[in-house]
Amino acid sequence: MSTPEELLDLAVRTARAAGRMLVEDRPAAGPDVVQTKSSPTDVVTQMDRAAEKLIIERIRAERPDDAFLGEEGGESAGASGVRWVIDPIDGTVNYLYDLPDWAVSIAAERDGTAVAGAVVLPRRGELFTATLGGGAFLESAAGRRRLHVNADVPLASALVATGFGYSAARRAHQARVLTGVVPHVRDIRRGGSACNDLCALAAGRVDAYYERGVQAWDVAAGALIVTEAGGRVEGLNGAPTSPEFAMAAGPGTFEALHALLAPLDPAHD
Ligand code: IPD
Repeated sequence: MSTPEELLDLAVRTARAAGRMLVEDRPAAGPDVVQTKSSPTDVVTQMDRAAEKLIIERIRAERPDDAFLGEEGGESAGASGVRWVIDPIDGTVNYLYDLPDWAVSIAAERDGTAVAGAVVLPRRGELFTATLGGGAFLESAAGRRRLHVNADVPLASALVATGFGYSAARRAHQARVLTGVVPHVRDIRRGGSACNDLCALAAGRVDAYYERGVQAWDVAAGALIVTEAGGRVEGLNGAPTSPEFAMAAGPGTFEALHALLAPLDPAHD
């Protein structure tokens, strides 16, 4: 049976390889959109598909009995108890527009619990990692450092990251929720990559994050990185994170943001 550290090593090598390919092979004129999903702006590029294929092939070559869940359809069962949850490009719209905040996100779950997570931001030269019980770390040109969320940040001083879904009806309600949040916090950030938002929270670059509509592949690695950095990642009223709703923050800030958000009904369209 592999340890979380061994699973993390494979996640890191694979995410780095996919990140290199995504930088080197990105067509100069921009990647082709090959499909739209929930709305005309919810796009899949040829590079999302190529990266997911690379990731699954590489992991399967070393671990043929594992299961997979990938954003671009790569779902398959396995017999080992380990499942890989993959977002080949989180922040696809940023990638499409050649903005730097997009990431390759790979988490390994054992019996349904995330035990290792790697998030690579190739254009920023950053690698975020965590293992269950082993802490969260950021590696970059500046070196390697252990991550700690900001705790007990009063809401009025809190920088809050969020995101929007792709459907117009959902966005209209998300905008209403936002009008209930903005007057009470330092400011809002909409970076365009949920897993990067979570890594930014772990690194103390924002103080909180919330969003309706994120899927398991968007948050599996980032959520482990936040909890290993001392943060809470949950749905409303103690529910687990789900596509209904996800929020994350350090202790103290989490409870205050929850009290602000819950009456705004952020888990419905
Ligand atoms: C999206 C990004 C975005 C979030 C959306 C996600 P994708 O993931 O994480 O920040 O607001 O909800 O769908 O489509 O780029 O993998």
